[in-house]
Amino acid sequence: VLKRSFSTSSVRQVIKNVTVIGGGLMGSGIAQVAAQGGNNVTLVEVNSELLKKAEASITNNLGRVAKKLYKDDPNGAKKFVDETQSRLKGSTNPSDAVKDSDLVVEAIVENMSVKHKLFKALDEAAPPKTLFASNTSSLSIGEIAAVVNRKDKFGGLHFFNPVPVMKLLEIVRIPEQSEETYQAFVAWGKAIRKTCVTCKDTPGFIVNRLLVPYIAEAIRMMERGDASPRDIDIAMKLGAGYPMGPIELADYVGHDTTASIIQGWHEKFPDNPLFNPCESTKRLVQEKKLGVKTGEGYYKYN
Ligand code: CAA
Ligand code: NAD
Repeated sequence: VLKRSFSTSSVRQVIKNVTVIGGGLMGSGIAQVAAQGGNNVTLVEVNSELLKKAEASITNNLGRVAKKLYKDDPNGAKKFVDETQSRLKGSTNPSDAVKDSDLVVEAIVENMSVKHKLFKALDEAAPPKTLFASNTSSLSIGEIAAVVNRKDKFGGLHFFNPVPVMKLLEIVRIPEQSEETYQAFVAWGKAIRKTCVTCKDTPGFIVNRLLVPYIAEAIRMMERGDASPRDIDIAMKLGAGYPMGPIELADYVGHDTTASIIQGWHEKFPDNPLFNPCESTKRLVQEKKLGVKTGEGYYKYN
């Protein structure tokens, strides 16, 4: 939970200017929490229309946070929103946006060659001090880092959806990462009020390595007709205390995301049955029924 009195001054000296690349579901949330934590944030999108969409989403979610933090204090809420927004700016030029950046967090499409192209360009454009991080859900951090010269300044910073609400930040280490970089990541995580856990660069890190096979098993259970989606969801909420059931959560995360995670792991580890792609998810992706974000997945949304 956010605390107004939290001091971030010592941390800001290390990471003050943050560039977030990709203003979709995750990037807009990461930009928001960084600005809330006191960073000057530049959010990069591919065009101004998508930038506007990201900014609208931040305005909306910032309002929700302000309402929670300043329940009976509308002036305080307005000040919080205004000050946070004054630290946020948009850009459509990644090379320009990293010129004075202390930390770049990449949250673009989950595709290795697209991420490689971006990081190669960023490595040339950013000053030597700039730390690089990827928010990838499922790709290897070491493989992403292969194209940059600054591997000592590279790591995974994995956030969870919805970023302004979920308290966890996974910090993923690679063997080349320096202790100084790791410590800067930990300090930044604290400054933006996340609880940090550390792990090695293995498929899915901690949460997704457990969560993705669990969701896939629930979908397989539904595909076999062992129980209805609604009953599976109710069972896991009331029987295991999860805030969302697995089918609801699959719709919430997005089927393009989960299908590409599972497909990637299946290709790398074909003998692991936990990573077998689900037929019904593949079908939904083909039909562009990606879940909550498109208005339909396993359930329909208004
Ligand atoms: N920004 C700001 N605030 C938000 C928000 C957002 N995007 N989304 C929800 N909130 C706030 C709401 O305003 C609400 O605030 P109040 O308590 O002040 O009313 C609060 O969060 C709860 O929201 P709701 O009442 O709408 O609904 P809820 O109680 O069901 O909570 C939820 C929503 C937080 C999403 C909860 O259902 C939940 O925790 N679900 C599980 C989410 C999860 O597992 N995420 C991880 C996905 S995996 C992942 O991200 C990793 C990956 O790589 C794929
Ligand atoms: P998204 O599709 O909502 O957003 C990606 C955004 O990146 C898009 O708006 C796109 O226009 C933009 N983009 C693509 N290429 C770009 C480029 N070269 N420069 C600037 N912007 C570019 O995706 P998302 O769900 O936010 O996921 C982003 C990353 O975060 C992925 O690596 C994903 O695996 C990871 N992630 C996703 C979740 C989740 O629940 N969806 C959770 C944790 C991590």
